[in-house]
Amino acid sequence: MTDLTVVPHPLLQHKLSLLRDKHTSTPEFRRLLREMGLLFVYEVTRDLPLTARPLETPLAAIAAPTLDTHALCLCSILRAGNGLLEGMLDLLPTVPVGHIGLYRDHDTLEAIQYYFKVPPDLGQRMVILVDPMLATGNSAVAAVARLKAAGAREIRFVCILAAPEGVKALHAAHPDVHIYTAAVDSHLNDHGYIVPGLGDAGDRLYGTK
Ligand code: URA
Repeated sequence: MTDLTVVPHPLLQHKLSLLRDKHTSTPEFRRLLREMGLLFVYEVTRDLPLTARPLETPLAAIAAPTLDTHALCLCSILRAGNGLLEGMLDLLPTVPVGHIGLYRDHDTLEAIQYYFKVPPDLGQRMVILVDPMLATGNSAVAAVARLKAAGAREIRFVCILAAPEGVKALHAAHPDVHIYTAAVDSHLNDHGYIVPGLGDAGDRLYGTK
């Protein structure tokens, strides 16, 4: 699979291991997820173009390499996506943020949309779509379809953990979407949870279980 990057950076791997630990508290889980969001930004923006902007240092005039943050959009799949989003916003504070509200029907595991709000000019931006867990892939597939319907042309998907089933489903439905993750786990269980995984990311992030 060429459109999958498993980021091997030791900091990401270490933090993922801490997140997997069932003894990790909610405040700690939230802090770690935020830090992973920050580290993932580094990887996902690695190939973005820079333009030279004229500016003056205290000593000389130069053409300074500058990122065009107008060309980006962050988009979070609610609610667990917000845990990753916060860290990304630490590094990209001026980038607009879209939100897609999706929940998993517990019986069918299908993604049901209840909210959608994105910037109007998606077609001019590269969208970084975030959701910590790529499990069945249903939410990611639905979110990407919705973003494309709203005009998005380039989308990158960031999760911290993926199941092979989710990677396959997202690639099958949207082969143009590059996936970034810290690990691809063994499989999904009968309830659609990633094994060994880390449990329910939303519940662990917000202490709802
Ligand atoms: N969503 C989660 O939060 N955890 C999983 O293992 C799968 C989907």
